[in-house]
Amino acid sequence: MVVTLRDRDVAGILPRGGTILGTTNRDNPFHYRVEENGKHVFRNMSDRILENLKSNGIQALVLIGGDGTHAVALELEKLGVKVVGVPKTIDNDIPLTERTFGFDSAVGVASWALDRLHTTAESHHRVMILEVMGRYAGWISLHAGMAGGADVILIPEIPYDIDVIVRKVRDRVERGKRFSIIVVSEGAAPIGGAMTVKRIVEDSPEKIRLGGIGEKLANEIEQRTEIESRCTVLGHLQRGGTPTAFDRILATRYGVAAVECICRGEFGRMVALQKNEITSVPIADVVGKPHNVPSDDQLVKAGRAMGICFGDED
Ligand code: F6P
Repeated sequence: MVVTLRDRDVAGILPRGGTILGTTNRDNPFHYRVEENGKHVFRNMSDRILENLKSNGIQALVLIGGDGTHAVALELEKLGVKVVGVPKTIDNDIPLTERTFGFDSAVGVASWALDRLHTTAESHHRVMILEVMGRYAGWISLHAGMAGGADVILIPEIPYDIDVIVRKVRDRVERGKRFSIIVVSEGAAPIGGAMTVKRIVEDSPEKIRLGGIGEKLANEIEQRTEIESRCTVLGHLQRGGTPTAFDRILATRYGVAAVECICRGEFGRMVALQKNEITSVPIADVVGKPHNVPSDDQLVKAGRAMGICFGDED
């Protein structure tokens, strides 16, 4: 499974999403699912990693991914592996970096979807709800909602009150706007309520898969307003396809910076974007510290100033 990547092997991958490496976003080598005597059991496979690195003469590892990946990087570093991290997730939920690559592409797809949902919303006088990913962070919803002209943006960081949302929809009708566009993060929840879980995957380090909040909201809003309310779940469409120019450039800058870290002998660090400059931060400062939309986020403030409802106040 070891392949030497030469120039020709990586030529032409800029416009491709996903990974050419065949990696996983769920497995944990310290708790790895293997089959023994016809049964699935979990084993710490880190020794195998150390052996493979040694036998292949690999001196440093670049780990590309989100918080789970960086948690693994930190554990490998403790075992003496020279690691460099690169923040890549559509969720943008890694601290100490302004952007993870993948986020901009996901936001592009979500705002594209909102543009298209506007058509039916307006012509059929409906409430159209778009449920987007992002796990426990509302970045995708917030950015797509602002770019796509949503009337209501619901994010996990701001628990919502259904009465406020219903008032917003009715108020729009009274002002002659017979439709509303709502973008909701999969992790959004009502005040005092829980997030909506779609499924539990027992043998995964990340057991919870969120999903279903959009449909719930559609039912509630339709019952209370008598306006037909429909939900579209964007799902993995926002995680695939051609990356945006911004993401391509960011990924390239991160790649260069990761190699430079290795050349300088700087390990245990994650490359990061701060004030549009590429820098690096200790992986230990990143792991286990989620990066959520802060309550004083400028974009939330701008949204409120534009009259966008965040579900908490009129
Ligand atoms: O972390 C990236 C992400 O796309 C989340 O936004 C989403 O909750 C999750 O992964 C979905 O994972 P899966 O494809 O395994 O269901």
